[in-house]
Amino acid sequence: MTVIRSQVIGCGAYLPERILTNAEIAKTVDTSDEWIASRTGIRRRHIAVPGETTTDLALKSAQNAMTDAQIAVEELDLIIVATTTPDETFPSVATAVQSRIGMTRGAAFDVQAVCSGFIYGLAVADNFIKAQQASTVLLIGAETMSRLMDWTDRTTCVLFGDGAGALVLRAAAGRGDASDRGVFNTKLYSDGRLHDLLYVDGGPSTTGTTGHLRMLGKEVFKHAVINIADSIEASVRDSGLSISDVDWFVPHQANQRILDATARRLKVPAERFISTIEDHGNTSAASVPLALQVAVDDGRIERGDLVLLEAMGGGLTWGAALLRW
Ligand code: UT7
Repeated sequence: MTVIRSQVIGCGAYLPERILTNAEIAKTVDTSDEWIASRTGIRRRHIAVPGETTTDLALKSAQNAMTDAQIAVEELDLIIVATTTPDETFPSVATAVQSRIGMTRGAAFDVQAVCSGFIYGLAVADNFIKAQQASTVLLIGAETMSRLMDWTDRTTCVLFGDGAGALVLRAAAGRGDASDRGVFNTKLYSDGRLHDLLYVDGGPSTTGTTGHLRMLGKEVFKHAVINIADSIEASVRDSGLSISDVDWFVPHQANQRILDATARRLKVPAERFISTIEDHGNTSAASVPLALQVAVDDGRIERGDLVLLEAMGGGLTWGAALLRW
């Protein structure tokens, strides 16, 4: 049976030049490189300088992905940006990217699912492609999480960083079996009752300010491993495959301990989980495509590999996606 698959035809990423080390943060709040590295795996993160916006990062990752895909802007039907840190409350980062790459047709919009945003965005892109409403989609995860930090709160400000990553997805005919290249399925979940575990204490219709990120880290941690492992198993099962068939797991980068615990729960060697946490910190919706780019560049992820993407974040939201690269 012939089916429509969303195939990745290009990927790109961009990190701001400014690197903020743990030692630098330890000069302003009561923390240490030792605490941050041992509890999270993070050593440094990239931070957008004043005036450098989410759209700037998104644009550069998009240009890199389009160069990799060797496509012209006229070929794009849709831009989706997963972000929780837009330049302005509206319009979207996606329409700003659309204008700056010179795209004058099609549609562009943002998706907001915090750290799960890239998985949610991939689900939307895949469904647009499968419904034949778009054949070529630019999907970007871009964040300036540094703008949401309370830089006096050591329990959160050490965790996050800025960056962007992008994929170009294109409709292609598949056989409908596991030998196809492209997205096999996406699994999305949320539980709005868990709002208080991870949220921003501001917004246009409450305080009228941007607000700061607040998190009950220990509580989020407890949900993370269980929810992520369950969504990975659901995604793999849905395609009639097993965990051992997956070549690479590309997780949201929140905490090395979450990655390791998830690998243990799934009985997968930790080396099969791509980790960029040491150098990037938690870049929210950008972390999965940034990690993908690192593993593609260093030759770990190769064409034809079975790749599992997963994330969990504020909402709570979580999900997974399985694709053949
Ligand atoms: O991306 C969205 C999803 N987010 C996540 O998945 C994050 C999940 N949570 C986590 O990654 C971890 O819970 C954290 C890294 C946030 C915290 O690690 P933890 O091992 O759960 O530490 P904790 O919150 O239990 O804090 C332990 C101690 C506390 O001191 P007391 O009460 O034991 O005296 C904290 O005050 O560590 C203290 N602490 C710090 N000490 C030095 C908290 N933050 C810091 C810090 N430096 N930056």
